[in-house]
Parts: sequence; structure tokens; C-alpha cells
Amino acid sequence: MSPLFRIFTPRRTAAAALMTVLAGSVLLPAVAADAPDQAKPMALTGIMRDLGQDMQAATDAIAREDWPKVATLAARIADHPQPPLAEKLRILSFVGKDTSSFRGYDKQAHEAGKQLEKAAKRGDGTAIISAFADVQTACLACHQQFRKPFQDHFHGQQ
Ligand code: HEC
Repeated sequence: MSPLFRIFTPRRTAAAALMTVLAGSVLLPAVAADAPDQAKPMALTGIMRDLGQDMQAATDAIAREDWPKVATLAARIADHPQPPLAEKLRILSFVGKDTSSFRGYDKQAHEAGKQLEKAAKRGDGTAIISAFADVQTACLACHQQFRKPFQDHFHGQQ
């Protein structure tokens, strides 16, 4: 399961918590209404920044053929932290009808990250480059469709 995907489709305990919040949203106005954390920087932005740094570090590690480092970075890219639940709900409600496409990019990035990790563990340079390109393709696809509207929606309100 994609961790980026999990940003928007939390599983396990997070899924249970999400269901609780969704079911109880009328009783939990502080979570249901996004006003309280509106002005704060979004966790997603920081997570994305870390992803960007890990991708840069991976480029460097590839140039040095430091495959163990590539494997470590790839695992982190594939399994990065998630935003807190309230923010996930804000993002989910914003993405709305485009959720499946958002999830698709998410899943794509995660799977490519796992492929990158596997290739790095094998020390297969050609497969590493190819999987790295697949990761970036997924990053780009999501950014092309969602970054601008996302920024207009969340950062434009501040
Ligand atoms: C499912 C959608 C999605 C995927 C996949 C995705 N991103 Fe993002 N990314 C976003 C959104 C939305 C923003 C805008 C966030 C904001 O401005 O707060 C963003 C912003 C960014 C930023 C700018 C952060 C900043 O400082 O403003 C970086 C860097 C970034 N992403 C890197 C990556 C990398 C690297 C990957 C792939 C490993 C990736 N993203 C995959 C949705 C995605």
C-alpha cells in the first residue's frame, strides 16, 4: 500500500480513527471544521520538502554508486510520514471528485519507490535509474494536476 496513498486513505488505526471522525463529525466540530489549523503551515508541505531532499540525496548517491544509501533513501521516499488526521480530512475534502486520480499518482510514486529500493538492494544500476525516473514521473504527474489548485485553495486562504 502506498504511503502517499495513505495520506489520503489512512489504514489500520488511522482508518479506524478516520471512520470515527467521519461518523462523529457532527459531534467533533473542532476536527470537522478546518478553521483552527487554517493559518498553520501544512504538514504535507514539509513532507513534500523532505521528499524533494531525499530525491536529491538519491541522485547524489546514484552518482557515487552508493547503493545501500540509495536503498535507504528509497525506503524513506516510499514510506514517509503522513499529515495529521485533521489535515488529511481537509485534503480529502478538497481533492473531492479527483480522489481516484490523486490516489493513482500516490500509488504510482510508492510502487516506484519500492522498485527503486529493490533495484538498489540488488545493486542493479540500470534498474535503479529506470525506477528513479518512474518515481519522478509520478511526482511530476501529481504536481502538474494538483499543486496549483492545492496552493490556491490552502495557501491562498491565509
Ligand atoms: C499525490 C500527489 C503528490 C505526489 C505523488 C507527490 N507530490 Fe509533491 N506536492 C504535492 C502537492 C499537492 C504539493 C503542494 C503542497 C503545498 O504547496 O503545500 C506538493 C509540493 C511539493 C514540493 C514543494 C514543497 C514546498 O516547499 O513548497 C516538493 C519539493 C515536492 N512536492 C516533492 C515531491 C516529490 C519528490 C515527490 C515524489 C517522490 C512528490 N512530491 C510526489 C502533491 C504530490
